[in-house]
Amino acid sequence: MRSFLITIIILVATSISEARQEPTHLVHGLFDNSDQTHVFYGSLDLDIPQFNIFNSLSINDVGDPSKGKYPVTPFTYDPNNDVAYMAAPNNQNRTILSVINATSGALLSNFSSIPNTIVSLQYDIFQKQLFAHTETDSENVTQVVEIDTASGNVKQILGAIRGAKPTHISSYCPICRKYFLIVLQDQDFVYLAVNTSDGGGISWEAVMNFTPVSMRFDYKTFTMYTAYINHTDDISSLVGIINRTLGGISKVVGTISDDPSLVVTSLSAYDVAENIYYASDVLSWPYSAGVSYVNVNTSQGKWIPLARDRYNSHAWFVKQFVH
Ligand SMILES: *[C@@H]1O[C@H](CO)[C@@H](O)[C@H](O)[C@H]1NC(C)=O
Ligand SMILES: *[C@@H]1O[C@H](CO)[C@@H](O)[C@H](O)[C@H]1NC(C)=O
Ligand SMILES: *[C@@H]1O[C@H](CO)[C@@H](O)[C@H](O)[C@H]1NC(C)=O
Ligand SMILES: *[C@@H]1O[C@H](CO)[C@@H](O)[C@H](O)[C@H]1NC(C)=O
Ligand SMILES: *[C@@H]1O[C@H](CO)[C@@H](O)[C@H](O)[C@H]1NC(C)=O
Ligand SMILES: *[C@@H]1O[C@H](CO)[C@@H](O)[C@H](O)[C@H]1NC(C)=O
Ligand SMILES: *[C@@H]1O[C@H](CO)[C@@H](O)[C@H](O)[C@H]1NC(C)=O
Ligand SMILES: *[C@@H]1O[C@H](CO)[C@@H](O)[C@H](O)[C@H]1NC(C)=O
Repeated sequence: MRSFLITIIILVATSISEARQEPTHLVHGLFDNSDQTHVFYGSLDLDIPQFNIFNSLSINDVGDPSKGKYPVTPFTYDPNNDVAYMAAPNNQNRTILSVINATSGALLSNFSSIPNTIVSLQYDIFQKQLFAHTETDSENVTQVVEIDTASGNVKQILGAIRGAKPTHISSYCPICRKYFLIVLQDQDFVYLAVNTSDGGGISWEAVMNFTPVSMRFDYKTFTMYTAYINHTDDISSLVGIINRTLGGISKVVGTISDDPSLVVTSLSAYDVAENIYYASDVLSWPYSAGVSYVNVNTSQGKWIPLARDRYNSHAWFVKQFVH
C-alpha cells in the first residue's frame, strides 16, 4: 500500500514537472484599446489566450504608439536591468524615448532629446548598449546611432544610410555587433548591416528577391529568420532563413498560412531558447487578428485568433535571460 502511494506521488510529481517543462507561449509587449489616453504594458499568454495588463502609461508621458509612423512601435528589451525602451510621438509629434520597468511596467524615465523619428530600437545584451535607427531632416537619409541610456542623447553615429526609405524591419547580433536592417530602394528591399563596434560602418549586403515582413536574428545559431509573403501562385505567409549571398530564402522553415485570406503582418518576436518565431496576422474574412507561431526547428506551429474587442498590439518581445 505504502509503495503504491509512493508510486502515485512520484507519478503525480513527474506529470507536474513534465507539465511545467511544456514550453509556454508567452510574449510581453505594448497594447492599447479604445482608451485613447493610455498605452498598456503587459503580456499575452497564447496558450489560453489571455492578455495580462501590468500597468497603464499615459500617452502624455510616453507618446502615442498608435500615431507612430511605422507599423511596429520601436521597442527593445534589456535583460540585464529588466527594463524596456520604447519610442513614440507625443501630441506635438516630438519623439519620446521612454524607459519602462519590464516587470511592473512603471515608467522609469522619458526623454525627448532625439530630434527625429525613431524607426527601430535595438539593445545589445552583451555590450549593454542601446542603438536606434533614426530619420534625419533629409528625406531618404537615416542613421544608426548609439543612444546614451542615462541622458537619452545620441552618443555616436555609426552609419548614415543614403538614398533609401527606412522600414521597421530590423534585428541585432550581439556577438558580431551588427544592427541589421531592411530599407527600400525604389521597389527593392535591401538588406544592410551596420557595425556597432569600431566606430561603425555600413555594408550593403543584398537586394532581396522576396517580400520581408519582419526578421529576427538567432545569435545562437547565426541564422536570420524572416516572416515573408510569397506572391508566386496564391499568396502564402511563410517563415524562412535569409541567405544574404543568394539575396533570398535558402530554406523555408514553417508555414504561417497558405490561405490567401490569412496574411502575416509586421509584429514579431523570437524565442531564442525555444526556437519559436511569433508573427502577427490578419484574417480578412471573417475579420480577425491573430498570432501565429512556428518552431523553426520542427516547423510545427499554431494559429491563435484574438478577440477583436480586446487589445491591439504595438510591440512584442520574449522576456528571457533576466539577470
Ligand atoms: C515624462 O513624464 C512625466 C510624468 O511622468 C511628464 O510630466 C513629462 O512631461 C514627460 N516628459 C516628456 C519629455 O514627455
Ligand atoms: C504629426 O505628423 C502627422 C503625420 O506624420 C501629421 O499628419 C500631423 O499633422 C502632425 N501633427 C502635428 C501636431 O504636427
Ligand atoms: C521593477 O519593478 C519590480 C517590481 O515592482 C521591482 O522589484 C524592481 O526593483 C523594479 N526595477 C527597476 C529597475 O526599477
Ligand atoms: C526617396 O526614396 C523613394 C523610394 O526609393 C523615392 O520614390 C523618392 O523619390 C526619394 N526621395 C528623395 C527626395 O530622394
Ligand atoms: C565592420 O567591422 C568588422 C570587424 O571589426 C570589419 O572587419 C568590417 O570591415 C567593418 N565593416 C564596415 C563596413 O565598416
Ligand atoms: C514561393 O511559392 C512557389 C509556389 O508555391 C514556390 O515554388 C517557391 O519555392 C516559393 N518561394 C519561396 C521563397 O518561398
Ligand atoms: C547561400 O547561397 C549561396 C549562393 O547560392 C550558396 O553558395 C550558399 O551555400 C548558401 N548558404 C547557405 C547557408 O545556404
Ligand atoms: C534547433 O536547430 C539549431 C540549428 O540546427 C540547433 O543548433 C538547436 O540545437 C536546435 N534546437 C532544438 C531545441 O532542437
